[in-house]
Amino acid sequence: MDIASRPSEPSTNPETADAAVPPHAPATIRREDYQQPAWLVPEVALDFALGLEATRVEARLSVARNPAGNGSPTLRLAGDGITAESVAVDGAPHGAWKMDGPDLLVDLPGEVHEVTIVTWTNPAANSQLMGLYASNGMLCTQCEAEGFRRITFHPDRPDVLSIYRVRMSGTKAQFPVLLSNGNCTARGEGADGTHWAEWYDPWPKPSYLFALVAGDLVANHDTFTTISGRTVDLNIWVRDGDQDRTHHAMQALKDSMKWDEEAFGREYDLDLFNIVAVSDFNMGAMENKGLNVFNTRYILADPDTATDMDYDGIEGVVAHEYFHNWSGNRVTCRDWFQLSLKEGFTVLRDQLFSQDMGSEAVKRIEDVRILRAAQFPEDSGPLAHPIRPDSYQEISNFYTATVYNKGAEVIRMMRTMVGPERFRKGTDLYFDRHDGEAATCEDFVKAIEDGAGADLGQFRRWYAQAGTPRVEARMDFAEGVATVTLTQTVPPTPGQPGKQPVVIPLRLALFDRASGANRGEELVVLREPSMQVSFAGFAERPVLSINRGFSAPIALDAGQATADLVFLAAHDDDPFARYEAMQQLVVQHLIGLVGGAMLCQAERDAGREAIGRALEAVIGDPALDDLMRGELMILPGETYLAEQLAVADPGVIHEEREGLKAWLGAQLRDQLIALHERASAVPYGLSAEARGARKIKTQALVYLAAGAPEVAADLAVQQYDAADNMTDRQGALMVLAGLDTPLREVKLAAFHQRYAGNALVIDKWFSLQAGSLHPRVVDHVKALSGHPDFTLTNPNRVRSLYMAFTAPHAFHAQGGEGYRMIADLIVALDPINPQTAARFVAPLGRWRRVEPMRSALMRAELERIAATPGLSKDTFEQVSKSLG
Ligand code: ARG
Ligand code: ZN
Repeated sequence: MDIASRPSEPSTNPETADAAVPPHAPATIRREDYQQPAWLVPEVALDFALGLEATRVEARLSVARNPAGNGSPTLRLAGDGITAESVAVDGAPHGAWKMDGPDLLVDLPGEVHEVTIVTWTNPAANSQLMGLYASNGMLCTQCEAEGFRRITFHPDRPDVLSIYRVRMSGTKAQFPVLLSNGNCTARGEGADGTHWAEWYDPWPKPSYLFALVAGDLVANHDTFTTISGRTVDLNIWVRDGDQDRTHHAMQALKDSMKWDEEAFGREYDLDLFNIVAVSDFNMGAMENKGLNVFNTRYILADPDTATDMDYDGIEGVVAHEYFHNWSGNRVTCRDWFQLSLKEGFTVLRDQLFSQDMGSEAVKRIEDVRILRAAQFPEDSGPLAHPIRPDSYQEISNFYTATVYNKGAEVIRMMRTMVGPERFRKGTDLYFDRHDGEAATCEDFVKAIEDGAGADLGQFRRWYAQAGTPRVEARMDFAEGVATVTLTQTVPPTPGQPGKQPVVIPLRLALFDRASGANRGEELVVLREPSMQVSFAGFAERPVLSINRGFSAPIALDAGQATADLVFLAAHDDDPFARYEAMQQLVVQHLIGLVGGAMLCQAERDAGREAIGRALEAVIGDPALDDLMRGELMILPGETYLAEQLAVADPGVIHEEREGLKAWLGAQLRDQLIALHERASAVPYGLSAEARGARKIKTQALVYLAAGAPEVAADLAVQQYDAADNMTDRQGALMVLAGLDTPLREVKLAAFHQRYAGNALVIDKWFSLQAGSLHPRVVDHVKALSGHPDFTLTNPNRVRSLYMAFTAPHAFHAQGGEGYRMIADLIVALDPINPQTAARFVAPLGRWRRVEPMRSALMRAELERIAATPGLSKDTFEQVSKSLG
């Protein structure tokens, strides 16, 4: 998972999009074309002779004709970049196989057969990091979604479940540790310094959950006793020297195992749970049965090298992958269109877990911020798709914030409507009913409906329709009665010009202005295009607080007066609503400035001053804890601001937002300095108090950097020099990286020197510079791309330099240099790692929403990419949809 994403897009007709693509365009796979597999594979036996440059794979598949299939005598096995050295059927060499493109076809006369296939792969040459690949001298696999077919020929679809037996042998010196799914059943020595191991996984699983790891690794070992008293061995495997950085991940694993027993009644089902950390990985981590494989950034942490955010990321991702053991592995997906069945649900599960482990309020705010920054733009752009997509060319392109994060919000709404207890009855029924099966999103909704006793008929539209619904809320007040009128519209998205109204649960409260109290929260469910609800008995016009807790993933227009927002920012007892009022206060002000509204100076000043007073109150409010104070201090991001406008000028948004920040930093200079001083006195620790102190410390610097740069530079250097942890050090360096001070270079060099050789920290060094507010970021990024530490072959490093760069102003630099750099990157990276290359298309794909000058430049870069010969399916799909 990675790791954090939409207004009314002119509707794109898929017919015209298709007409524009050349004849060699990849085939479109459609959900409505689903057919049962013709052949099932009850058992798989794999034998690996491991070598970094040549690995031999012998696969023995027990195949059985599926009575529910189409009866075809032809067994079609998917392949990708592999050829068969030999094929045998029932033990006898078989000459009559043939290839159909990448697939291998074998005609089989009977109902059950054993098909044995030998293939070879070169893991060291596998720069895509899909299938079996080499990373730092070790071998590992990534099979989701369609990587298994790069190892051997197989149906490689999630509705074909098999019991796996794996044997592997290799040089003991090179691969002292040999791991696969399930339990190790035998191991021994071979000739010439080789050894071997056999693994058996009793749980039937789809091929995407297969994993193998071989390398020189050491384990942090621990145990967990399950609720029924079974002892489970836990290992986190890392390179020697990294053991001491695995303790937080281990604690997160044990906490997750316990939490899933209590919160969802799910017990672990093997005697062994292995996690391996690898430094070359396309995504966050992977839930292979009993053998999770992780990006090192979601395992390794200690105070000197990892920030508080890194710690939270580790806890969340370790939990996410562990929770997949039930939501994904025991109950898996019928086809890849159902991806949100496992991902949306598992994201919800990890969010609820993190809410319980730390601050519920802060976690909810962070999750909404991620949704708005990553999913809203996706839902309003050319790549918009429903959480259950209808078609794809390359499934890797659908591991999106929509499938993951909006998917989680949709399930969260079900929970909000039926309540936690009934929701649990629904999930119990789901696990019970579908255990061992490959299920659909419809199966999930039906189970919640039956288990919780709810009617989710119309609610299902959330699965089918793309686009962020917009809700307008207006309140009238007359004769003591407040009447709220709610109106919804779901915007058109590519391929979906017309939309139906959805079910929108809105938590709502009305506040009495005089007492600051409300009369209790109500859940109002909007189903029709529009509705009215009335509340009687108010002496004066109350203040409306709506979509509390962000109960629905919508764009809300509550048309609130500044005074009401100021009131809610100070008084709302729902922490999310309080945060939202602060955000909205700034959004309305800045959008008023950049959106062409002719504001006079007095109006500008009044808006700014209201924000200043609200921020001052936040800084000084003794009732707030510092973690929450830190959240309330964060200004809405530039992407979210741009989202509010049909067509935005990113340059103006940046200037106005920075201008506001500078004004606030100058106005509240003394308060911010005092805040920094107070927080600096709190010693390092992992308590909420100490973490909160670190968060506001850097927040204070961020405002001061804009409003009082000399003061900020001094304080940042102080903070950097005094830092005994990465949160403080990175925060200080981030601020310095944006300032024009000689100390910038000095501290960046010191940081690089201190952490030379620590890949995860060097990634931070790249990101801080690429994402900085410095006016010459473009030059910096260009220079950094030639730095000896930079490489296109490691996805973490590529993301650290270029993802950070696509976020801020520099990407939109006048003249289009930023766009050119990202397009150059895509063209260079596509042949090496198409999955990662395709991830960089979306920022350019926003061209329709950007002012005309920049828009033309962005579009031209997309066209240049599209004209590149030999483009991967991944990049082709994203670029052609972005242009379509
Ligand atoms: N199932 C993994 C997770 O979210 C993501 C793996 C996706 N990998 C990929 N190559 N598309 O936990
Ligand atoms: Zn997942």
